[in-house]
Amino acid sequence: MNPVEIPQWGALEKLAQTVQNVSLREMFASEPKRAEKMTLDACGLHLDYSKNRVNDEVLKNLFDLATQAGVERARDRMFAGEKINCTEKRAVLHVALRNRSNTPIFVDGENVMPEVNKVLQQMDDFASQIRTGKWLGATGTPIRNIVNIGIGGSDLGPVMAYEALKPYTMRELNVRFVSNIDGSHLAEAVRDLNPEETLFIIASKTFTTLETMTNARSARKWTLQALRATGLSDGEIVARHFVALSTNAEKVAEFGIDTRNMFAFWNWVGGRYSLPSAIGLALMVAIGPENFYAMLEGYHAMDNHFQTAPLEANMPVVLALLGVWYNNFMGAASHAILPYDQYLSRFAAYFQQGDMESNGKYITRDGEKVAWQTGPIIWGEPGTNGQHAFYQLLHQGTKLVPADFIAFAQSHNPHMGETPNEHHLKLMANVFAQTEALAFGKTRDEVLAEGIAPDLAAHKVFEGNRPTNTILAKKLTPQILGSLIALYEHKIFVQGIIWNINSFDQWGVELGKVLATRILKELEAPNAELKHDSSTNALIEWFKREA
Ligand code: F6P
Repeated sequence: MNPVEIPQWGALEKLAQTVQNVSLREMFASEPKRAEKMTLDACGLHLDYSKNRVNDEVLKNLFDLATQAGVERARDRMFAGEKINCTEKRAVLHVALRNRSNTPIFVDGENVMPEVNKVLQQMDDFASQIRTGKWLGATGTPIRNIVNIGIGGSDLGPVMAYEALKPYTMRELNVRFVSNIDGSHLAEAVRDLNPEETLFIIASKTFTTLETMTNARSARKWTLQALRATGLSDGEIVARHFVALSTNAEKVAEFGIDTRNMFAFWNWVGGRYSLPSAIGLALMVAIGPENFYAMLEGYHAMDNHFQTAPLEANMPVVLALLGVWYNNFMGAASHAILPYDQYLSRFAAYFQQGDMESNGKYITRDGEKVAWQTGPIIWGEPGTNGQHAFYQLLHQGTKLVPADFIAFAQSHNPHMGETPNEHHLKLMANVFAQTEALAFGKTRDEVLAEGIAPDLAAHKVFEGNRPTNTILAKKLTPQILGSLIALYEHKIFVQGIIWNINSFDQWGVELGKVLATRILKELEAPNAELKHDSSTNALIEWFKREA
C-alpha cells in the first residue's frame, strides 16, 4: 500500500506544522518524565529517544502508520521465508544465518537450517586450522596473513566488524581487506607480505564482480610468481593459498579454486546483509569461532525482539518511525550515525551501503514512481573527530540532520591516560554534552548573561532543537555488535515497508557497470570510435592522450 493513502500520513503532515513551532526545551519543560517515558532497553542496548521532536500524538500516528502499512505482516513473511524480494523473486533470509535456536525455516519447502549449520561448521574447522597453524601454505609454512578480496557487502561488513572487534582478534594474524579496483589497493596490501604465509579469501556472492575478480586474478599471479619455484602445480598452490566465499560454484571452479575450499551461501542472502554468512570468514578467522557465534547470538536476540515486541516497545520500529518522521514530514534529507568509539570507525560506512542500497529507490513494489521521499543519505564519522569537522553545521547550519549517538559504558582500553579511565570519561562527557547542546542550545539571553558583546551575540546563539537518539551499551562485545547491526537492519526493513519499496534489490548499480564494460573496450582499442555524448567523448579522448 502506498503510504500517502494511509490516513495517518495526512494527520502527520498536519502535526508537523504544529511541531515545527515547538522546541525541545518546551517539550521537556512540560513533561517531567519525558526521558523516562521515551527510553527502551533490549538485547543489552539502551535507547533514549526523548531528544526527538515528537509528542504523544505524533508517536501514536507513527505507530498506527506502521500498523496500517502492514509492517508486522511483512516482518512475519520475511521470517517465514516468503519471497518478499519481489523483483528478484527471492526469499530474504539473513535472519536464518543467525537463527541460533535452529527452528526450521523453509524456502521452497526445504528447511535451510541444516545447510546454514553445515557451512558454519566448515568455517569453524577452517578458522581453527588457520588459528592453530595447521593450515599450511605451499611451502609447508603456516598462514600468518589473511587478505580478504571483495567489495560492497563482501567487504564492508567484514571490515567493519573486524575493526569493531579488534580487541578480540588474534593479534599474531595479519588481516587485510582489498576492495578497490585501483591496483594501488592490492599493491599496498601485499607489499610487505610473504606469499608463502599469505592466504587470499575471495569473497563474492556472484563471483563475477569486476573489481573482485580483477583483484583475485592479480593476487593469483602474485602468488604463483613467487611460489612456482616450489615445483608444485598452479592448482596445488592455489589450493593452499586461495579459498572462495560464494553462491556460484561454477565460477569458483573456473577460477581454479577447488570447490572443497569454497564456503557457500545462498541467493536469499543479500550482499549487504551477508556478514553472518560465509562472507564473515575472515572475521571468524580473526576473532575465533566462539566470538563469531557470540555475535550471531546478538543478532538473533535482536531478531527475536523485532519479531515479538509490540510496535511501541520495538527498538528497530521506533528508530524507523522516527526516521520516517524527519524524512517525510520534517524535511530532513540525511541521517548521521555517530559512534563514540574508535572501534566503530567503519560503522557508518557499513550502513551507508546497508541503508542507501536498500532504500535509495524511487519505484514502488508495484512498479510506480513514488510521490514521497524514500531513503535518506546516511553518513557519519566516529566521535570526537566529527566534532572538529562537521558539527558546526549540525549545531548552527540550515539543514536538519537527525543523528544517532552510539556509546559504551566501558572502554576496552581503560588503562590509557594519566588518571584512571581518563580517555573514556572525556569521550563520554562529549557524547552527553553534544546531545544536550544539540537539543537545548543556548538562548540569546544566556549568551548575553555571559557578558558577550551584543553585536557578537547572534553568532554565539544555539537554536537547539536538533534531534538525536542515544544508543548505549555496557561494552562493545561480539554479542552487542550483532544486536546493534540487526537493530539497523530491521530499522531499514521497516522503513522500506512503509515507503512501499523493495529494500532487497539493487538495480541502481547496474547501468554504471554496463557502461564501464563498454568504455573499457574503447580504452583498450587505440582507434575505437566513440559514440557517447560530447562530454564523455572528450573525457575519454583526454585520458587516452594523457595516459
Ligand atoms: O554493487 C552492487 C553489489 O551487487 C552489492 O550489492 C554487493 O554487495 C557487491 O556488489 C558485491 O557483489 P558480489 O559479492 O557479488 O561480488
